[in-house]
Amino acid sequence: MTKSKKNNFDYKKIFSMKNKKVLIFGGTGNLGLNFSQILSNAGAKVYLLDKNKKKINNENIIFQKCNVDLKKSISNNLKKIIKKEKKLDVLIYNVYSKPKNYYQVFEEYNLNTWEKVLKTNLTGAFLSCQLMINHFKKKKISGNIIIVLSTYGIVGPDLSIYENLTNKRNIYGGKYSLTTPVSYTSTKSGLLGLMKYLATTCGKFGIRANSLTPGGIYDFQEKKFVKKYIKKVPLGRMANWSDYNGSILFLASDASKYMSGSNLVIDGGWTAW
Ligand SMILES: NC(=O)c1ccc[n+]([C@@H]2O[C@H](COP(=O)([O-])OP(=O)(O)OC[C@H]3O[C@@H](n4cnc5c(N)ncnc54)[C@H](O)[C@@H]3O)[C@@H](O)[C@H]2O)c1
Repeated sequence: MTKSKKNNFDYKKIFSMKNKKVLIFGGTGNLGLNFSQILSNAGAKVYLLDKNKKKINNENIIFQKCNVDLKKSISNNLKKIIKKEKKLDVLIYNVYSKPKNYYQVFEEYNLNTWEKVLKTNLTGAFLSCQLMINHFKKKKISGNIIIVLSTYGIVGPDLSIYENLTNKRNIYGGKYSLTTPVSYTSTKSGLLGLMKYLATTCGKFGIRANSLTPGGIYDFQEKKFVKKYIKKVPLGRMANWSDYNGSILFLASDASKYMSGSNLVIDGGWTAW
């Protein structure tokens, strides 16, 4: 064992987010709100950048309206926050969009829908990371980028679990039944590439990049679907919203300070078969 400082065994210090400023793009979504709660409980000040406003009763969790489809919206928001905070530490890219006709089958998938999803899921991440990394470099910050993927960014979907679902019972709305569309899998694996690019090219500046790959979360989806889904999960259940709180705190804090270019898969074993 190498000589260690006492602090290396202080688990509270290792996981502490005290004095850290975190931006969560897509922050008022279900997972984003869970992330903001655990990170602020660990001491962080968290900014939620999202096109949808949510009322939040926590002075350390601040909402700012932002549309990642517009470069100006991202840069104006960053400027405003940097002016106030001087230094930012962590960016979490958690946005995903489900525009009209999102759940259409591959054979008929609309080019316009494809381009919209690409713009929000992938181009928005590129722009946010570019601006944030320029800030890290300018201020010589050992910054931290976390990109939220999905199991469907590392494996293709098994469309049989969506067979015979009811259009009207798609909890996310629209005229099509629930499925994993081609735009989702394609953008999520694109984000994996972006994360690796950032890790290998920015490591020399002390900047790290990793991704979190969650499995499917139970959200009152159609029973037929849930039954088929959990058959494919070794742990035998879908995730709860809070199942990712430990992993986001690990990735955002010094607990993972020697980790870069990695994809943390938390999926109940889905991708282990
Ligand atoms: N829910 C799941 O089962 C699941 C599983 C695996 C991975 N994920 C991933 O987790 C992340 C969060 O998922 P969630 O279920 O909390 O989704 P969500 O829809 O609740 O959150 C996504 C957020 O992105 C925001 N957004 C969409 N377009 C935007 C834009 N142009 N500008 C700014 N904000 C925009 C939405 O307003 C929303 O608040 C996503 O990246 C998703 O792919 C979710």
